[in-house]
Amino acid sequence: MSAILLAQVNVWMDAVFILLFIGVWLFVLFHFSISIPKGRFRKKWIEGKWPEHDHLPVFLPKLMHWIHLLCMLALAFSGLYIRFPFFDGGRTPMRWVHYIAMTIVGLNYLWRLWYAFLAKDRDYKKFAITKRDLQSALGVLAYYGYFSDNKPHVAEYNVMQKMSYLLFAVLMLAQGFTGLSLLTQPILFGLSPREVLIGWWLGPLVGGVAVAGAWMRVMHYAINWLFIIMTVVHFYLAVNEDFLIGMDFFGFKKYPKDKLVTHGHGHGEEHAAPAGAAALEAE
Ligand code: HEM
Ligand code: HEM
Repeated sequence: MSAILLAQVNVWMDAVFILLFIGVWLFVLFHFSISIPKGRFRKKWIEGKWPEHDHLPVFLPKLMHWIHLLCMLALAFSGLYIRFPFFDGGRTPMRWVHYIAMTIVGLNYLWRLWYAFLAKDRDYKKFAITKRDLQSALGVLAYYGYFSDNKPHVAEYNVMQKMSYLLFAVLMLAQGFTGLSLLTQPILFGLSPREVLIGWWLGPLVGGVAVAGAWMRVMHYAINWLFIIMTVVHFYLAVNEDFLIGMDFFGFKKYPKDKLVTHGHGHGEEHAAPAGAAALEAE
């Protein structure tokens, strides 16, 4: 019974996620095409009127984002290969790629947490969702939905950005947990990571350690697609909403100094309401 359900879920997941993946690209294309009649395309890409900023991306987060991005590409590619071996002879090398990238991405994650909470330039406040953020949510949605041309600006990241960055962080934890539960080699005092993580509690609940592991595989695969889909949207918004800061964030081209403005919110401070900032972003 449970085996039949698992097999069905696995087949349906492939169909659903591949459709969602195509759907998200079509959505992004549709969203972009509306920016042309709405005048946003001209303003940004032709007249060069990109959002202004009061400070630039910092070196360490940039470096960590690069490491993270490269590992995620390697993980998605090798992971999909492990599931669908789409060329010959890659089984062992692709497993190694996955294992090495998962180790690096895990250490990088811990490093990012250390930076966010403990470093001298700690920046966890940039990601905290405040009451003002929540109050701005409808406005931000209206801007992205083309109902309004005025994007509320209450902090460096808008509320949708904050929510998706936090979701990325939670999904990473879930992906680490479900991924390690796929390991059945006894490497921890004679026990496998699967036994340690899920064997003793999920196993009895679902009818055995193997079934529990199979459900972890389902989740690991589903989260793999969530990452891919969210990254398409994140990539689109990074390029199309704020190209200049994106180029700086990736280290390709410095953000032009003459566009730097001073208003009283920024790194590590409590975000005060910047008078006039809404107008700046609203253009
Ligand atoms: C974050 C830490 C991660 C850990 C600890 C981890 C661990 C693992 C392990 C142990 C396997 C099984 C490999 C094998 O059979 O030899 C696996 C498979 C897989 N991983 Fe990961 N992984 C991680 C992150 C990711 C990420 C970020 C993605 C995608 C973006 C991903 C996508 C996949 C996929 C698609 C499979 C194949 C699953 C299947 O057979 O259905 N993994 N992972
Ligand atoms: C496809 C390529 C990607 C591009 C072009 C891109 C672009 C960007 C840019 C421009 C920012 C900086 C925003 C700013 O500071 O103003 C950013 C931040 C961020 N990105 Fe990406 N990104 C990519 C992939 C990813 C992936 C795969 C993830 C996670 C799975 C991710 C997670 C984040 C997070 C959490 C932040 C918050 C800032 C930080 O961690 O310091 N990005 N991204």
